[in-house]
Amino acid sequence: MRTRITEMLGIEHPVVQGGMQWVGFAELASAVSNAGGLGILTGLTQPTPEDLIKEIDRCRAMTDKPFAVNLTILPTIKPVPYEEYAQAIVDSGVKIVETAGRNPEPFLPLFKSAGITVIHKCTSIRHSLKAERIGCDMVSVDGFECAGHPGEDDVTNMILLPIAARRLKIPFLASGGLGDGRGLAAALAMGADGINMGTRFMVTKEAPIHEKVKQAMVEASELDTSLIYRTLRNTARVFKNSIAEQVIEIEGKPGETKFEDIQPLVAGVKGRELFDTGDLDKGIWSAGMVVGLIDDIPTVEELITRIVDEAEKIINERLGSAVSV
Ligand SMILES: Cc1cc2nc3c(=O)[nH]c(=O)nc-3n(C[C@H](O)[C@H](O)[C@H](O)COP(=O)(O)O)c2cc1C
Repeated sequence: MRTRITEMLGIEHPVVQGGMQWVGFAELASAVSNAGGLGILTGLTQPTPEDLIKEIDRCRAMTDKPFAVNLTILPTIKPVPYEEYAQAIVDSGVKIVETAGRNPEPFLPLFKSAGITVIHKCTSIRHSLKAERIGCDMVSVDGFECAGHPGEDDVTNMILLPIAARRLKIPFLASGGLGDGRGLAAALAMGADGINMGTRFMVTKEAPIHEKVKQAMVEASELDTSLIYRTLRNTARVFKNSIAEQVIEIEGKPGETKFEDIQPLVAGVKGRELFDTGDLDKGIWSAGMVVGLIDDIPTVEELITRIVDEAEKIINERLGSAVSV
């Protein structure tokens, strides 16, 4: 498959693995890139910019294909030296960056002067148009189905993608709710130049998280995600577990929710521990509605090959025969 995105990123298949906190290590990113997609290291998963430089070197030793780094600019409990992470990316010679969370404009002069291709991930048409206007090279359009932060507009990809296709000039990836060849074919049909997946890549052999977490996602249905932080207008879609339910209960109490009331339940360190130990009620973890489409734990290569083959078959056979008379 050839799209504007495979051409611009120098990859074989129009399949990208989105940044994932505590998951986007070199093991996963290199596996995705080696399988012909675009793997992305998650910048802030590394405790310091120096550690990120080491992780980029590690990834480079594991693949000679292009890979990217995600820089997520979100409110955090501890202040983050974003400029230093951005500089570490530039100094390491990485040529593709995925930005997310906030307007990436302050970082663009640095990235652009280093010849970096910037993919900005956003959850609305207005933010996509803004990203285009300020000089991002492409956007990832994250629909309401997605894991992590879907924004506050609650618009699904069936609506977002065709509007993006009508209004954007730069290429875009469909993100959120994608997990199989049907999704890839549909995303291309709706005008996207490829897909970005998070949750589906968590449930692969190479994802560096405990088997019990993967198994829970295999067993889950499309109803097994929860929206938390709605009252804080910083909505996150996470796997439905007892901790997510406690957070929603606290948010449902009369009066304003204070983050301090929730913080002990959702601390990042607990999420990380959950991924390491497989203790599924230790904290929260991001997961999308696409868990309903996941029923196995393939290798990354098996997954990407299957998705692309299935999409090609649908386009050539099912859709082809629907229009040929
Ligand atoms: C465990 C997990 C952690 C994530 N962490 C981040 C992150 O740190 N930064 C970011 O931009 N997106 C993050 N995401 C969102 C993904 O990059 C991607 O946009 C999203 O998963 C797409 O939706 P899907 O899960 O339905 O494929 C995360 C997703 C998951 C599943």
